[in-house]
This record gives sequence, C-alpha cells and structure tokens, in this order.
Amino acid sequence: MRTRVTTAHDISALEEARAAYQPRLPKALRRASVQAEFGTPTQADADKEDIRKLFPHTYGQRTVTLVQGESNLRADVLRVGVVLSGGPAAGGHNVIAGLFDALRAANGDSRLFGFLRGPRGIMEGDYKELTSAVVDAYRNTGGFDMIMSGRDKIEKPDDLARCRHNLESMELDGLVTVGGDDSNTNAAVLSEHLLNHGARTRVVGVPKTVDGDMRSERIEITFGYDTACKIYSELIGNVCRDAISSVKYWHFIRLMGRSASHITLECAMQTHPNVALISEEIEASGATLEQIVDGMVDVIAERAEAGRDYGVVIVPEGLPEFVSDIKAMIDELSAILGEEEEYVHSLPDRSERVQHLSSRLSDHSARVYGSLPEDAQEVLLRRDSHGNVPLSQVETERLLIDLVSDKIREINARGGKKIKFSPLSHFFGYEGRCAAPSNFDADYAYSLGCTAAQLVRANLTGYTAGIQHVTRHPDELVAGGAPITMMLCMEMRKGKPTPVIRKTLVDLEGAAFKEFVESREAWAFNDGYAFPGPMQYFGPPEVCDAPPVTLALEHAHGMRLS
Ligand code: FBP
Repeated sequence: MRTRVTTAHDISALEEARAAYQPRLPKALRRASVQAEFGTPTQADADKEDIRKLFPHTYGQRTVTLVQGESNLRADVLRVGVVLSGGPAAGGHNVIAGLFDALRAANGDSRLFGFLRGPRGIMEGDYKELTSAVVDAYRNTGGFDMIMSGRDKIEKPDDLARCRHNLESMELDGLVTVGGDDSNTNAAVLSEHLLNHGARTRVVGVPKTVDGDMRSERIEITFGYDTACKIYSELIGNVCRDAISSVKYWHFIRLMGRSASHITLECAMQTHPNVALISEEIEASGATLEQIVDGMVDVIAERAEAGRDYGVVIVPEGLPEFVSDIKAMIDELSAILGEEEEYVHSLPDRSERVQHLSSRLSDHSARVYGSLPEDAQEVLLRRDSHGNVPLSQVETERLLIDLVSDKIREINARGGKKIKFSPLSHFFGYEGRCAAPSNFDADYAYSLGCTAAQLVRANLTGYTAGIQHVTRHPDELVAGGAPITMMLCMEMRKGKPTPVIRKTLVDLEGAAFKEFVESREAWAFNDGYAFPGPMQYFGPPEVCDAPPVTLALEHAHGMRLS
C-alpha cells in the first residue's frame, strides 16, 4: 500500500529563510570520498553472555570511524528506507535530508523511501518515496510530519517476518531507524533477524529523543534535546519574570523527560529557578514523597519570611518512578499487570480496580496508590508498547501543589505569621518536541543522517550512527558508528528478561550536577533568575550556536560516560 505524498502547509517567513541554512558537517563527511576505519571488537555493557546468545550474528562487531581518504564504501545504486520512531524531536527532517544528500552524493541514482507512521509502516509496507522535492520542502524544519512517527514495537516473530518480507520485496539495501533506546534496541533485533535469514537489508540506528537519556562514549547526546531545552528555558525564564513582576504566584512547572532528569537539569542551569528536583538525587537519597514536600515547604516558608510570596519550581516528568515509595508501588503494579492485565482492565470501574489492586499490593503500596488523585491512579495502570508507564500523563505538578497546600494549611492553622501560597501549574512537554531545530540540532541531526548513509554504504548492520566532541568546532567532530549490542543489557520488561539499552541517568558525580548543587541554595532564596529568551537562528555564534550548558560543562571537565 502506498500513501500519497502530502507536504502541503503554509510556509512562514522563518521557514523560508531557514530553508537556506546549510548545516555544518564534520570534516570527514564534507566530501563523497569517505573511508571507514575499523576499531577493535566490542562487548556488551553488561550481561555479555545473554546478549551474545541473543545476537549471535551481530555481537562483538567493531566500532567504526569515518575519515577522509580513498573510499572503501559502496558506490553502486542503493535503495534505502528510513523510519522515524517514538516521540518527535527537532532535527528529524534533517536526519532524512543528510541521509538523502549523502546517498545521492555517492551515487545520483540511489533512492530513499520513508516508512509512514513509524515501525508500523515497515510491518504494513506503507511508505512513500522521498524525492528531492519532498526532502527540500522540509530542510531545517521541526517535527516528524514528512513521514510521521509511531510507537509500535517490532517484537513478535510474525512482526519480524512481515518486516523482512516487505524490506525484501522493496529490495532495500539499508534501513535507517531513527529513535531512542527502545527503537535502537528494535533496530538491533531486526538486524539480527535479517542477517539470520540471509536478507540483504542492513539496519542502522540514529539516536533521537528530547529526553537526552541515550548516551555513551560514542553517543554524546541525542538530537532534539538541545532544542527542547531551549524552548522550555525560554518559557521558564518568562514565567520567572512574571513571578518577580506580579509577586504573588508560586509556579510549579513539570518538564518532559520520561525517566531521566537531563531536561530539568539543563533548564535549571539556563534559568536558575528557586527549586529544581532532580529525580536521580532523590532516588539516591531514598527520599519519600513526604520528605520532598517538606523540603519545598521549607523554601516557601523561608521566602515568605523575607516577603517573597512567589517562586518557581521545576519538576521532572519522570519523578514518580524515583521516589522510593511510589517506585515500589509502580513496580508492584507492573508485576500484577504482568500477570493479570486483562482482568484488571475488564473490571467495570475505577473503584473496583482500586479495590482489587489494593488487595494485591503490599500495605504500604496500597496506601500510596489509594492516596493518589483518581486520574493518576488510572494512568499508572497503562503501559505503552515498550512496557513503560505513560508518565507524561501524570500531573505530578498538581499532586505536589496539593500536598504542599495541605502542609501550608497545617502550618497556618498553628497560628503565627501566615504563609501566602497561590500556586499555578504548568506542563512544558509537547511544545518543545517539534520546534524548528536549533543550529546545534540542525547541524547535529544532518551530520547523523550523513553518517548513517556512510554506514549503510559500508554494508554495516546493527550499528548506531554517532558523532563525537559535539560541543567543539565542526572541524574537530568525529563521525562513526558503534554496534548496538555494545549498549545492550538485560532487564525485566512485562515480567520477562528482555534486551534493552539502559537509559543514561543524570550523573550525580558529573560536573553539571555539581555546579547545580553549588548554586541552588542561592537560587532558592534570592531571585537569581536567568532569562535566556527565545532561541535564535540568526546572529552572533554565542547566541545562536551554543550547545547545551550541561553538555559543555561535562565536556570541559572530561565527560564521564558509561
Ligand atoms: P522518545 O523517547 O520516544 O523520544 O519520547 C520521549 C517523550 O517525549 C517523553 O519525554 C514523554 O514521556 C513521551 O515521549 C511522551 O510520549 P507520547 O508522545 O506517546 O505522548
């Protein structure tokens, strides 16, 4: 089934000007004459033997670096497919543009096909050809709308067989899958399956996610993170300015990031809010929800004492899974759902579900579950196709507001000077994922697309494209690829041991977190807000080309990567 090409939307003045932007590439990718230089064989991060057994054809492959020199890559006509997977991230269209340009530079007759609506497009054979007219219309634009995305998982033997059938009937030499940890794991599974069945299609992953939680020595950051953080930081800065202007509201802002707090840490460094919760620190301290709330109330009370009845709190979306008592409850729920998901969802209403689950949960977890707002109780029973709780739908900022309000009411009821507390809640998530990419993301994503093309030309499969030294001048960037099996380990998913790429969390020993810790007390009680303003595409490099603050700090202090 083919779907008609749809590119129709009105072009804004910015899009028109931005179409002419030429992304900057690492030196090795600036010419068609690219050479692949191989490193040493690799091993999985953990659970080596399990991973080796699951990936007998792709385990242990060597890292590869792309250098300028006489090309040892394919120069024949190639047919390549591309798929965008998971949540959108700024730069996706540039990955496709980079891929297209690099394939065509090597052979003008090569063709690129985009699978529609994510991995489901491969399973259903739903695609469109990406000609230069299609690709040109989307250069340097945000979003994934050129071919759309989806979260379907290619998992069951039948899914893999359907993919193989469709990839073979399209005679594809390569498939580039753009996605996060789960999608790159999928790419590893698919590449192993294709090799095992003698299929010719090579699979190469490109690391994407606004969450910034897929990091390793070879993948310093995912594309989309920089743009999302810049958008959220602009908005947070504006809210901070409103706070010191109207001097009457406490703003509780939840920020996207399914698990790790990278986005919240970056936005904190860009805007200096009064409170920024970092889930990884909370987990390490073993803090309960009540202790977190007490800490916030202390800041609110002390600021009130100084006549500051306003402030800004930023909270990572992933927080619930890092708070000791909530995490224990979610783990118990996942185990119960693993065994009786259908039964739980067949119960006629929420109160019956709560009653049943309370009888199955431990006493403490049943109390925690019962204390949550109704909508949060329902969301915690949902799982996406990868077994994750859809945390972007849990309104943690409102839950915190409720709990803080209760405590302040108790304090005020004891007499003495009353604390004024007028809270407002915000969630900044979806507004940051599809923005027109920052210069950093436009360059980075385009470079990743070009790199993926060269990996396909090198006939490699089960690799992720990567660029190293991303905070440096383009002349110093190094492009290459790493076998995905290197990043895999085993985790329990839906009650079964499953190969996964473990999310990289905020490093509590890293330079960025340490700098945040040094500053946060001053930010809590003074009004040291910073106002980064709107992301700029044209103007001085220090305004337009700056990499993420946390990444620059980590690099300046010699990044510690797993
Ligand atoms: P990816 O990891 O797929 O890029 O998605 C990240 C994310 O934006 C999370 O921050 C958020 O929790 C989730 O997607 C929301 O998912 P959905 O788009 O399905 O609502």
